[in-house]
Amino acid sequence: MKAFVLNGPNLGRLGKREPDVYGSTTHDDLIALCVDTGAELGLDVDVRQTDHEGELVGWLHEAADSGVPVVLNAGAWTHYSIAVRDAAAQLTAPLIELHISNVHKREPFRHHSVLSDIATGVIAGLGVDGYRLALRWLADHTR
Ligand code: DQA
Repeated sequence: MKAFVLNGPNLGRLGKREPDVYGSTTHDDLIALCVDTGAELGLDVDVRQTDHEGELVGWLHEAADSGVPVVLNAGAWTHYSIAVRDAAAQLTAPLIELHISNVHKREPFRHHSVLSDIATGVIAGLGVDGYRLALRWLADHTR
């Protein structure tokens, strides 16, 4: 089975970006982590990252049209993008909202998500291990 891992703005800079908050894993490392985890679980994982909102909207439409589950780290768009929310609301397979950092321990503007109430579940604060856990859950619950 296929699964998408979709990462939004600034996540391509993982490893260089605020390593005290996001850790030292690069986005290439994260791709390998997700693909390898997927291989162990029988999931064909497609990891993508974009700094362009419309591109993410298009990928969510693709996931909606093909019934593919999504692990979504929408980065800052999480907190205000109604366009990303409206696209994510069209998914028919599970949606896991993911944050590397614990957004609830951070600035107040990160406490609100426009995605959480349409997500199947939310993972935050477990670093990049959260992606592994999200894929494990998808493997166990989507067949
Ligand atoms: C993030 C948290 C967001 O608040 C932030 O804008 C990001 C990354 C996380 O993974 O912890 O870009 O989604």
